[in-house]
Amino acid sequence: MNETPKLNISKSVELYEEALDLVPGGVLGARKPGDFINGEYPIFLDKAKGCHLTDVDGNEFTDFLCGYGPIILGYREDEVDDAVYKQIHDKGFCFTLTQKYQNLLAKKIRELVPCSEMSIFLKTGSDATTASIRIARAHTNKLKVMRCGYHGWHDWCVEMKGGIPSKFYEDVFEFEYNRLDQLEDLMAEHGSETAAVIMTPFGHPNHQEMQIPAPGFLEGTKKIAHKHGAILIYDEIRTGFRVSMGGAQKYYGVTPDLSVLGKAIANGYPISVVTGKKEVMMAADSKLFISSTFFPNSEAFIAALKTIEIMERENVLEDIWEKGETFMKQIQGVMDKYDVGAKLTGIGPMFYITFTKDDTGAYKRKRKDFYTQLIRKGFFFTPFHHAYISYRHTKKDLALALNAIDQALAFLKEKY
Ligand SMILES: Cc1ncc(COP(=O)(O)O)c(C=O)c1O
Repeated sequence: MNETPKLNISKSVELYEEALDLVPGGVLGARKPGDFINGEYPIFLDKAKGCHLTDVDGNEFTDFLCGYGPIILGYREDEVDDAVYKQIHDKGFCFTLTQKYQNLLAKKIRELVPCSEMSIFLKTGSDATTASIRIARAHTNKLKVMRCGYHGWHDWCVEMKGGIPSKFYEDVFEFEYNRLDQLEDLMAEHGSETAAVIMTPFGHPNHQEMQIPAPGFLEGTKKIAHKHGAILIYDEIRTGFRVSMGGAQKYYGVTPDLSVLGKAIANGYPISVVTGKKEVMMAADSKLFISSTFFPNSEAFIAALKTIEIMERENVLEDIWEKGETFMKQIQGVMDKYDVGAKLTGIGPMFYITFTKDDTGAYKRKRKDFYTQLIRKGFFFTPFHHAYISYRHTKKDLALALNAIDQALAFLKEKY
């Protein structure tokens, strides 16, 4: 069997062992070795450029995780970084008061994102989803929340409930993507007390196949929310500035009341946004307090403005869609050739290779072998998260990745 030899990740392991004594768990959240394949993936990276990563042992990879989403152009995109250096050097970025870039970015977002009339800028996706819920509760004077998708690590929505009093999440109810019936049932019971329905407009539930909206699903969720007087919030932290410049709401033609954006907006610099209808957003002025020392720092605003400028100038998303759709067709072609239970879901900018579940658990072994082969060959896809395409993935990068996928599937065919 044509098995690719294991990588040398000894320096990663050494740093990880040191980290275990310095940081609880060594590294945080979804960056732990168990979130990839223990012993196969690097744990510490050294540098990156374009779509290529180098780990601390000197192994090189073509990356399909894009920093978990923010890298829409490429790593170390000179034009963005130069604009940021210039700002830091010529003017400074951490001030006692706000700089004008806030207004420039809010205007730009209003021009691009259908629901946007006013915006608030924060740092992380979790900041933004939490702020959007607080705004919806303040605007409606209601308490309950219906949610669909991952919305970050804050008390009201995180999966692991350790350390959180139950009163912080007991008014939050979950429904699954494309299950209008579940939302209908929840709202039949709680509708009159519901402040918000928050959902990802495109289905990317953690660790699961991706889902495009079934006909009528997005229109239906909006209708149900509004029938009960609830605010519809689209969590576009992953889809914003990746599916279209106006987010998935523009792509699918359904406009929510509020929306949150993050990740791709500034090509890696930390900034997130709550944006939406003035009437709803104004609750943030009169009824609640949203503020944090670093929220107004301008380096991320400069990075966002420059990233958007490049994306518009170079039709970046057209390029990403075209490359992504072609790549998906090619991947489907090799999957059909080997027929080992691999499944491809998603859309050009973000897609996922999973393995069809079976009672024997063989799909887990296949998944492990498949992703092990890919990482050993230098292609950073991961078993528990979908892939992203960036502007700097070239057709050659994708052709080489396709070849590696072909070989990894051939390996599975022979083994199973
Ligand atoms: C859809 C969605 N919402 C919210 C978040 C939370 O964002 P952050 O990790 O920046 O807090 C994420 C992060 O992956 C996300 O994918």
